[in-house]
Amino acid sequence: MLIIYGSKYGAAKRYAEEFARRTGDKAIPYKEARHAGEDTVVYFGGVYAGGVRGLARTAKHFIAKNISRFLVATVGLSDPDDAKNAQNLRRAVLAAVPEPLRGKLQIFHLRGGIDYAKLSAPHRLLMKLMYSFEKRTPPERRGAEAQAIVETYGKAVDFTDFAALDAVCACIDGKSMLK
Ligand SMILES: Cc1cc2nc3c(=O)[nH]c(=O)nc-3n(C[C@H](O)[C@H](O)[C@H](O)COP(=O)(O)O)c2cc1C
Repeated sequence: MLIIYGSKYGAAKRYAEEFARRTGDKAIPYKEARHAGEDTVVYFGGVYAGGVRGLARTAKHFIAKNISRFLVATVGLSDPDDAKNAQNLRRAVLAAVPEPLRGKLQIFHLRGGIDYAKLSAPHRLLMKLMYSFEKRTPPERRGAEAQAIVETYGKAVDFTDFAALDAVCACIDGKSMLK
């Protein structure tokens, strides 16, 4: 099994490393990922402005490779239990994964965090712009993404939950592939 992550601030990396610890494999950053005959690829990627970090490049690498399963877990700030948000995250994954791989795809959503003290200057600016825009929307009309931005703006929060990896492990064990 090949375990890959696209992570800037460490949340997706931590999930990938914990998953690799459980399976006895190694997690590697997407820029170093090369297929070496593995049958299953598991990708953990941070969500950035509606896209999944490194996923498009990684998917491209695997299009013509002989793999049978491509598991993708998004790692975002917003609550994936919100149905509309989960739909948006799913759409972001599909946008990065071309047709030949889609039949092999299984999608999961995990929660990461944010620490404003550690953000790069461009990211801090982007969050400031999004916050200024979203805080003008009445709370009852905000989606999960907007709500997460407003609630956590300027703070350090971490929603990482390794127990959420159980669903990915169950899929590897073959359980959810039977659905
Ligand atoms: C510039 C920026 C844009 C973001 N956009 C989203 C987003 O669209 N949806 C979301 O759920 N989280 C968003 N986040 C939160 C990240 O997904 C979250 O911090 C995640 O833990 C990052 O993963 P990483 O630590 O592995 O890089 C954004 C964070 C930053 C800094």
